Amino acid sequence: MEISIPKDFVIGAASSAWQTEGWKGKREGQDSFIDSWYKNERFVWHEGYGPGVATNFIENYDKDIALMKEIHLTHYRTSINWSRFFTDYENLIVDEEYAKHIDTVIDQQIEAGVEPMICLEHYEVPKYLMDKYDGWSSKHVLELYVQYAQIAFERYGNRVKNWFTFNEPIVVQTRCYLDAVRWPHEQNTKKWMLWNYHKALATARAVDLYHKKQNDGRIGCILNPEMVYPRSSSPEDQNAAKMYDLFFNRIFFDPMINGEYSEELIDICKEHGIYFDPTAEELAVIKNNPVDFLGINQYYPKRVRAPRYKWNDQTPFHPEKYYESFDLPGKRMNNSRGWEIYPEIMYDMSMYLKNNYRAIPWLITENGMGREQEELYKNKEGIVQDDYRIDFISQHLYHLLRGIEDGSTCEGYMLWAFTDCVSPMNAFKNRYGLVRIELDKQRTRSLKKSAFWYRSLIDERKLFIDDIAVFK
Ligand code: BG6
Repeated sequence: MEISIPKDFVIGAASSAWQTEGWKGKREGQDSFIDSWYKNERFVWHEGYGPGVATNFIENYDKDIALMKEIHLTHYRTSINWSRFFTDYENLIVDEEYAKHIDTVIDQQIEAGVEPMICLEHYEVPKYLMDKYDGWSSKHVLELYVQYAQIAFERYGNRVKNWFTFNEPIVVQTRCYLDAVRWPHEQNTKKWMLWNYHKALATARAVDLYHKKQNDGRIGCILNPEMVYPRSSSPEDQNAAKMYDLFFNRIFFDPMINGEYSEELIDICKEHGIYFDPTAEELAVIKNNPVDFLGINQYYPKRVRAPRYKWNDQTPFHPEKYYESFDLPGKRMNNSRGWEIYPEIMYDMSMYLKNNYRAIPWLITENGMGREQEELYKNKEGIVQDDYRIDFISQHLYHLLRGIEDGSTCEGYMLWAFTDCVSPMNAFKNRYGLVRIELDKQRTRSLKKSAFWYRSLIDERKLFIDDIAVFK
């Protein structure tokens, strides 16, 4: 089957500052949350690799940009590392050396024909702000963030036209404060909800500022909603899916697209003592400043069923009171990552957005396949033969394009990731890139088979898909 890709459909790739940069040139006191997690609990990071060297992008950026050019990439998204951007977070003194690095990367990208898309926080909240103010628990941190955003817009807004306030704003507090599976292992559901709220409010404040200063691009947020499927058609299982959707998807979709929280979420937060007590003024800011567009990171489906056991009130409140994860027998798996493969999520998410919200522009800002031991797939020329990645992308793209035919407002697809990079905890275990990174001193780069394939996809805008892969 041959499918044409619309001519203005973005085919790009993504990464983040902390997952690529490395610490070369980083000053004392410029740690981020993720850096301090790595320093405090290094033993959970696969084979000890982490943000310390990462892909050493800080020194290798010109090589990566040359590779972007070689594969004709037109869009690349990364983040500014908030914790490295300042030498003083209270008085907002910019680290000129780091700021210059961002300048150079943006300029070189543009020169290479690659449009830069920038995110202001990809888990890089400064450690100093965590220690002093408890991070996103604090309205003062929110104020400092808005000033940081303003400085970033002033410095780079003439060249960067697509801005994102956060990457996956729900993730840090879900892992740390809701599930307590990550350092610093503090379980606190009320704090989880407060961080969610403050990041939605910070987004609205940044949107407001961006528009007031008459910037001529657009600003949004990158969310990671999970397409949620009930185990069965029973009303109980359907309700479990609805509740999961409310707690983990609508929690950001509603304020960011509609400008308000649903009454249902507010009531349930009050009932469980996790309400975030917004002021009328803050709610007005959220109301008046919905995002211009959204990035959607989408990897796997979420399957739930109604809980089988009565909730134990002696345990801290968790949305799991209303659902239980469901393990579908026979599901396709990416065993390296432990994530189910179900490419239909792309079509289903497209229809979910179309049917539940106004026609907001959005694009897939992450999707991809992390694979262990890719060195085993090298041919005799040393090129990784990652046909599994080509299949994975093709099938996901197929369903995304199907959504556009049925009226979705999706503008593009950005692969995670451009190069192999460091993952939280899994470090270099699972490789995601079009570009292979060796773990030698130089972090040597080489194009994988998928990179050449991606170039032909970008050039020819034709997706060839094996009917059998989709319909068998
Ligand atoms: C996304 C994050 O959730 O998934 C990335 O934005 C992350 O930072 C990517 O690397 C892949 O997940 P993981 O855990 O395999 O790195």
